Amino acid sequence: MTQPFIHTENLCFSYKDSEGAGEHPALKGISVDINAGEYVAVLGHNGSGKSTFAKLLNLILEPSSGVLCINGMNLTEGEIDDEQLMELRRNVGMVFQNPDNQLVATVVEEDVAFGPENLGVPQEELRRRVDDALDVVGMREYAKHEPHRLSGGQKQRVAIAGMIAMMPKCIIFDESTAMLDPGGRREVLDTIRMLNREHGITVLNITHYMNEAAEADRVLVINDGLLLTQGTPNEVFSDRALLLSAGLEVPQCSEVVLELREGGIAIEGEDIASLQGCADMIARAYATR
Ligand SMILES: Nc1ncnc2c1ncn2[C@@H]1O[C@H](COP(=O)(O)OP(=O)(O)OP(=O)(O)O)[C@@H](O)[C@H]1O
Ligand SMILES: [Mg+2]
Repeated sequence: MTQPFIHTENLCFSYKDSEGAGEHPALKGISVDINAGEYVAVLGHNGSGKSTFAKLLNLILEPSSGVLCINGMNLTEGEIDDEQLMELRRNVGMVFQNPDNQLVATVVEEDVAFGPENLGVPQEELRRRVDDALDVVGMREYAKHEPHRLSGGQKQRVAIAGMIAMMPKCIIFDESTAMLDPGGRREVLDTIRMLNREHGITVLNITHYMNEAAEADRVLVINDGLLLTQGTPNEVFSDRALLLSAGLEVPQCSEVVLELREGGIAIEGEDIASLQGCADMIARAYATR
């Protein structure tokens, strides 16, 4: 049996206050397996622990207790040396919310080259990786442009290209679409889906947008530092009461189907997460009336 790409057992993390005295538990025991090639969405209200979880997976933060294995490496057993840390960072990339904080160079292609250059990739290969990465996100024609003149969505795609150029196995997106307009969000979401489907990159997409989560293979709901539930988008969005208890709402299309059912209209089917699925179920219900 192949082992999961990410494996956690009872993973905990507490922030220390500035005097190093008190502790603020942010993750209280997360056990989850994520397989290579999966597209997983992570939902949870503000302060539930999503970013903390993401930072542990990249060892930006070190777990307080529990087990964390990534790509066969146990990161909670003994000391982590620099080589292991480098390998982890090569394998697991992170894209954050604010594109402006992630772009470091004054020219797009230099920005994309920054990560792999730091990893010691030789010049010739570096050139190829930068070109390929810009191709993947559809930004090759902007290679010589200044990042600060790009739109929010374009900046995020450059940040993603910088990750791709390091050839990671997994990319974690921490609300990477939150600051974008609808067009920019769509660009980035299409890029995320393509990286997963066509390049086999394992994706964790932390988001507040329910319709984004509906695009994933699996949804994790984190509440108050614990994994409240997980399942396919259809499974998770059918349990409105549970989502409400975590301060979340179901997508609007799911809400319509659930309301109609509660109103006594028999709508058959399980495809509740996507707009198209909901529309088809409603259409079938009315066609057979
Ligand atoms: N640097 C820090 N020091 C102390 N406490 C922190 C720190 N960062 C986060 N926390 C606390 O840890 C908990 C989890 O925060 P985290 O940022 O992981 O939540 P989140 O789910 O990503 O929230 P959001 O949706 O707002 O991004 C919160 O109670 C938060 O206040
Ligand atoms: Mg966060």
